[in-house]
Amino acid sequence: MKLLVTGGAGFIGSNFVHHVLREHPEDEVVVLDLLTYAGNLENLSELQVNPRFRFVKGDITDAEIVDSLVAQCDAVVHFAAESHVDRSIMDPAAFVRTNVLGTQVLLDAARRHGGRRFHHVSTDEVFGALGPDDAPFSEVTPYDPRSPYSASKAGSDHLVRAYFHTYDLPVTISNCSNNYGPYHFPEKLIPLAITNLLEGQNVPVYGDGKQVRDWLHVEDHCRAIDLVLRKGRIGETYCVGGNGERENIAIVRTLLGILGLGEDTIEYVKDRPGHDRRYAIDFSKIKRELGWEPSVTLDEGLRRTVEWFRTHEAWWKSVKSGAYRDYYGKQYGK
Ligand code: NAD
Ligand code: DAU
Repeated sequence: MKLLVTGGAGFIGSNFVHHVLREHPEDEVVVLDLLTYAGNLENLSELQVNPRFRFVKGDITDAEIVDSLVAQCDAVVHFAAESHVDRSIMDPAAFVRTNVLGTQVLLDAARRHGGRRFHHVSTDEVFGALGPDDAPFSEVTPYDPRSPYSASKAGSDHLVRAYFHTYDLPVTISNCSNNYGPYHFPEKLIPLAITNLLEGQNVPVYGDGKQVRDWLHVEDHCRAIDLVLRKGRIGETYCVGGNGERENIAIVRTLLGILGLGEDTIEYVKDRPGHDRRYAIDFSKIKRELGWEPSVTLDEGLRRTVEWFRTHEAWWKSVKSGAYRDYYGKQYGK
C-alpha cells in the first residue's frame, strides 16, 4: 500500500510512520504536514534517505495539494490536528479550521478519487468526562465533548461517519485514550514533567492532581491503527485504551520515583477551565474482533519513556529552545 499520512511529523503520526515502514517492507509512506509548532521533522530524520518515504510540507485545508496527494495514494491515515486542550481554550478557531475543515477537505479528496480507504484517528475526549464509578467509554457512549479541542474532534468524527453513510466512503475511526512515549511534545503532562525534572525544574500539577487518564504507550496505539486500517470493518469505530487508569499526581510520583527525586518538585497550579475529571476506555471490541490489546504496562512504559528522554536530550532541548523549527529549512533549503 501507498499511504498518505497526515500529521506524520507530530508525536503519534511520526511513531506510526516508523512503525509502518518497519513492519510493512512493501509499503510506501507520503507524509503531509504543515509543520506547525507541534510538527518536528527531526522525528523523521533517519527516514530522509529511505526511498519508501516522502515528506511534503502543506496544509490539510489546502484542497489543491490534498487532491494531488490523495490521487497518488491508496489510503489516507489522518492524524493531522491541533491536539492540545490548553491551546484550544486560548484559540478555538485554529482547532475548528484544522480539525473540522481540514478533515472535510481530505474526505472530499478521498471521495473524488474513487473512494479511497480513509482511517480517522480520534480521541476518547469526544465522549466527555466520567465520574469515579462510571463505566468506561465504549463505541456506544453518546458524544458529549466539553472543550473546544474535543468539540472539534467530535465534529470531524461526525463528518467521517457522514461520508460513509452518504457517499459510501470506506472509512474507519479509532478513538484512543492518552498516549505517551518517544517524540511526545513537551507541552503535554508526561514529557513536560520528565524534561522539567531532567532540567531541575518543578512540575506544574493542575488543581488537586486527582484527574484520571487512561494511559497507553504510543507503540501500542500505532499497532491498533495499523490493524484497523488493514483488517477493521468498514464504517466501524474502534475504541483503543491502555488499561492504564491513573491519577495525574500518581503519574508524577511514579516519574519522581524513576528519577530518584523528591516531592518538593511538585507545584500545584491553577486548574484548567472545564477540566475533565476522568477518562477510561473499554477496548473489548477491538480485542474481540482484531485480537488487539495493550502490550506495554504503564510502569514499564514510563520507565522506557524516561530512558528515551534521558538518551535523547538533544531532541527535547532543540524543541524547548525552538531550534527544531529551523530543521525543515536546513533539510530542504527553504
Ligand atoms: P501532535 O500535536 O503531536 O501532532 C499534530 C501534527 O499535525 C503536527 O505534526 C502538526 O504540524 C500537524 N498539523 C497541524 N495542523 C495541520 C494542518 N492544518 N495541516 C497539516 N498538518 C497539520 O498530535 P498527536 O498527539 O500526535 O495527535 C495526533 C492525532 O491523534 C490527533 O488527531 C489527535 O487528536 C489524536 N489523538 C491524540 C492522542 C494523544 O494522547 N496525543 C490520543 C488520542 C488521539
Ligand atoms: O485523551 C486523549 C487526549 O489526551 C488527546 O486527545 C489529546 O490530544 C492529548 O493532548 C491528551 O489530552 P489531555 O488534556 O488529557 O493531556 P495533557 O497531557 O495536556 O494533560 C493530561 C492531564 O494532566 C490532564 O488532566 C491535565 C493535566 N496537566 C497537564 C499539563 C500540561 C497537568 O496537571 N499539568 C500540566 O502541566
